[in-house]
Amino acid sequence: MMKNELKKAAGWAALEYVMPGMIVGVGTGSTIAYFIDALASIKYQIAGTVSSSEVSSARLASYGIPILDLNKIKILSLYIDGADEINDKLQMIKGKGAALTREKIIAAVSDYFICVADESKKVNVLGHVPLPIEVIPMAQKYVERQLMQLGGLPQYRQNVITDNGNIILDVYHLDISDPTLLEKEINAVTGVVTVGLFANRGADMALIGTTEGVKIFTK
Ligand code: A5P
Repeated sequence: MMKNELKKAAGWAALEYVMPGMIVGVGTGSTIAYFIDALASIKYQIAGTVSSSEVSSARLASYGIPILDLNKIKILSLYIDGADEINDKLQMIKGKGAALTREKIIAAVSDYFICVADESKKVNVLGHVPLPIEVIPMAQKYVERQLMQLGGLPQYRQNVITDNGNIILDVYHLDISDPTLLEKEINAVTGVVTVGLFANRGADMALIGTTEGVKIFTK
């Protein structure tokens, strides 16, 4: 089965968890694009969405799905987003699409986080892909030096400016055997806006598209 079909199956499977009247947090990526297509089919039943990126906002708007300001919302019961990697504890690496900061904000606000992904994203130990970090531009070199002290090999992501006007460093060779600790350590580096490790606040459920159907994982 093609990877895109597995992404599509996972994206559509999330629709089952969207209840009438809900405000839905919407992530970013190709799997989420399928979820947005699915959401369009019930757009009159939901109260609206909060969006994690300009890309997702454009797709939501193309369907006429309302996008709300997160600051006007007190309760966000559900957040649906993809991942670049996810482990058994439902901790994730995110940020390949450079939307990690807004994604992390929505994840923090939401009561329940469902990760949608194809089976290639499921790993035992995080770190096969580089770890994206959003950084304030003037702090780039300082942050790079600090990351090297943590054992990482940071690489500046060419031609990418985030929705927040910052840069991305993709960090290779980090030991991510303790994701919660590493998230804290990188968060503590001045100039780091967001680290793409979602360990302290991981997902509550994962819907993983596999060749045998969509598998459900919970913590
Ligand atoms: C965006 O910044 C990422 O966190 C995405 O969630 C991630 O890249 C998933 O993308 P795909 O669904 O396209 O694999």
